Amino acid sequence: MITEKAILHALSHVDDPDLKKDLVTLGMVKNVVIHSENKISFTVVLTTPACPLKEAIKNACIQAIHHFLGKHIEVHIDMTANVTENKNQKEALRGIKNVILVGSGKGGVGKSTVAVNLATALSLLGAKVGILDADIYGPSVPILLDLQGRQLLVEPQNGQNKMLPLEQYGMKVMSIGFLVPPEQALAWRGPMASKALHQLIFDTLWGELDYLVVDLPPGTGDIHISISQMLPVSGAIIVTTPQQVATADSLKAITMFQNPHVNVKVLGIIENMAFFVPDDAPEKKYFIFGKGGADKLAKFAKVELLGQVPIQEQIAIHSDKGKPLALNVDNLFGKTFQQIAQQIAQQIAILNFKFS
Ligand SMILES: Nc1ncnc2c1ncn2[C@@H]1O[C@H](COP(=O)(O)OP(=O)(O)OP(=O)(O)O)[C@@H](O)[C@H]1O
Ligand SMILES: [Mg+2]
Repeated sequence: MITEKAILHALSHVDDPDLKKDLVTLGMVKNVVIHSENKISFTVVLTTPACPLKEAIKNACIQAIHHFLGKHIEVHIDMTANVTENKNQKEALRGIKNVILVGSGKGGVGKSTVAVNLATALSLLGAKVGILDADIYGPSVPILLDLQGRQLLVEPQNGQNKMLPLEQYGMKVMSIGFLVPPEQALAWRGPMASKALHQLIFDTLWGELDYLVVDLPPGTGDIHISISQMLPVSGAIIVTTPQQVATADSLKAITMFQNPHVNVKVLGIIENMAFFVPDDAPEKKYFIFGKGGADKLAKFAKVELLGQVPIQEQIAIHSDKGKPLALNVDNLFGKTFQQIAQQIAQQIAILNFKFS
């Protein structure tokens, strides 16, 4: 006779390779159904969307059932995911499970491009994603997502007016650019900018989000410190280009996040504009800005190098059209972002588990 207990016993021999505990202890096995003496089904709820280990875990489950309960058993497994949340969640931001900051010490290295494409890749993996443009003085997200000139809607909630984020490509998007005409330059001092940012974060109805990706302004100033204090941050990603002028400034950004007063985990470095691959010679790689800059920085700062993003001429065209190139998963750029997004999701799941 097959029992639920026997099924769970068999599955308690299958580990999640990232979390290094078995699926039953982790509470990942749900909806166990015994259809007949030789047919069973259950659901495995993983903690990262489109987990790269999904197939391996599924096969290990089937093997465990066959080993402990008999080879004749037909097993149906539904593999799903429920992204876990950062344990420092704030009551006012209930619903936002994880916040990922995208920063760099230097301007123009591609933070906004990386933030928007990383968010797109996470969303394509099946996660619920939001983007916050925290570059109060130079918002780029409205252009990068073709949302320029769009009006925000306001909804009353508990006697207060709240803003509804705009939606594009399945993601929720908020930017100061939706509140101020694009041609108007803001001449605010630091405290005003921090106040505006506070409003963008707390007066927005974000709803349920697995990941909120934040596009930071360049540098290591007021905004960075206040945003790290305002939001329950899961980790920061540092964007750099290979040249030493960029990596030297990126090291400052890493040190700022690691400072005890800021205390944000650095998830890793992304090397943008790392190399160029000509369309007509895809086997060639040209390291236009030098080779190994970000790798050296990663080793020195003891953080991970999450990926190397190629220079592609379509970026500028796609960016101006407001269509992230990562939507195209067959392109080298899109593939690179899929890999980076998976690694980040995996790292966050491990961190959330460690601190739970
Ligand atoms: N991998 C890439 N290949 C080609 N062009 C790129 C790439 N990444 C970024 N760019 C281009 O480089 C320019 C700067 O990028 P982006 O605005 O993302 O940088 P940033 O770091 O956010 O800048 P800022 O410091 O001003 O906020 C843009 O024109 C963008 O289209
Ligand atoms: Mg930017």
